[in-house]
Amino acid sequence: MVYKIHSVTITALVLWLHFSNVRCVFKNHQTISRCTFIVHPICPDPLINFYLYTRENEHHPQRVALENITKSYYVKSLPNKFIVHGFNSNMTLGSLQRIKDEYLTQMDVNVWMLDYSGVSAGPVKCYLAAVFNLPSVGKCTALFVRKIMELSEVKEHKDIMHVIGFSLGGQLAGHVAEHLKPVKLPRITGLDPALPLFYSTHLNRRLSRNDAEFVDVIHTNVLVQGQLSPCGDVDFYVNGGLSQPGCNHSTEPFVCDHHMAPAYFAESINSITGFWSWPCPSVFNYLSGQCPPQGDHELMGENVNESARGQYVLHTNNVPPYAQGDWK
Ligand SMILES: *[C@@H]1O[C@H](CO)[C@@H](O)[C@H](O)[C@H]1NC(C)=O
Ligand SMILES: *[C@@H]1O[C@H](CO)[C@@H](O)[C@H](O)[C@H]1NC(C)=O
Ligand SMILES: *[C@@H]1O[C@H](CO)[C@@H](O)[C@H](O)[C@H]1NC(C)=O
Ligand SMILES: *[C@@H]1O[C@H](CO)[C@@H](O)[C@H](O)[C@H]1NC(C)=O
Repeated sequence: MVYKIHSVTITALVLWLHFSNVRCVFKNHQTISRCTFIVHPICPDPLINFYLYTRENEHHPQRVALENITKSYYVKSLPNKFIVHGFNSNMTLGSLQRIKDEYLTQMDVNVWMLDYSGVSAGPVKCYLAAVFNLPSVGKCTALFVRKIMELSEVKEHKDIMHVIGFSLGGQLAGHVAEHLKPVKLPRITGLDPALPLFYSTHLNRRLSRNDAEFVDVIHTNVLVQGQLSPCGDVDFYVNGGLSQPGCNHSTEPFVCDHHMAPAYFAESINSITGFWSWPCPSVFNYLSGQCPPQGDHELMGENVNESARGQYVLHTNNVPPYAQGDWK
């Protein structure tokens, strides 16, 4: 699924989209063979929506816009969690809903969800459109996130905003960070952030450790749908990061592995056992048996120690609860 598309192709596409639009009444979206492109980024965009869940409305998302944040269930004194879905998905995805449920069980928080499925869904070929749209979605999302941060009255700075992005949503978190500058997010969690697809620098903007004060990344399907190279302050390669033991590879190769990242993260929120890891310099060292459990131990997931740095591996059970506890 790696498209090697030259930046010239992208430029031609952009020019064509602009010119083909001249005759139309002003429109900021163009749909070409079932894929929607944002040709004129405008915020707010009707296809980029924000929803809030709190203990007042655990199962009924409240749609919130920039102008009516203060009229919503939003509580200024509570921490903010902001969950972002990936390509051809939406915020109803089971594992993302589970993250929300685990948070609301554990603590009183505002759980925000972005839904940009209108500009990131469709058949596989629409991945190009979804990636093309990321900077625009990032811009509108950053406006919204900035507003929440401005309104916030949380005591601990690190609680002001924690963005959790799954797959393409992990890369989107990088675009949000870019548009928030000079404001920096306290934390971004990347859940198997998607492979970068393009060799064009502007579209190739991807999650990095500079995008927040602390960036933690969980890798579960590197090489296929996730990114192999480390991109956080700390990167966890679960079961080596290639494939996951609970997945039936004869029925759904790769899809399941990729989706285990949000499943592990969700479990980590209330896990007493804990996902404890040990250092390992690379996936290749792991595969060649050079990474036995030894050295420093670090907890993966919601309760990660923010002073953790480097690359770690860990094992899980193949059925829930996945966490195996401390090996040390
Ligand atoms: C906020 O505004 C949006 C868009 O107009 C609307 O759909 C939503 O219901 C409003 N939410 C609240 C809490 O007033
Ligand atoms: C959300 O995605 C699911 C599949 O993951 C799909 O069944 C559902 O129709 C989608 N909902 C919307 C509103 O797009
Ligand atoms: C995996 O799926 C195949 C095909 O449906 C089935 O025969 C097999 O029993 C499944 N294996 C496990 C471990 O669930
Ligand atoms: C986090 O790690 C640092 C350095 O290893 C350690 O000093 C500190 O006690 C840890 N914090 C927690 C809460 O475990």
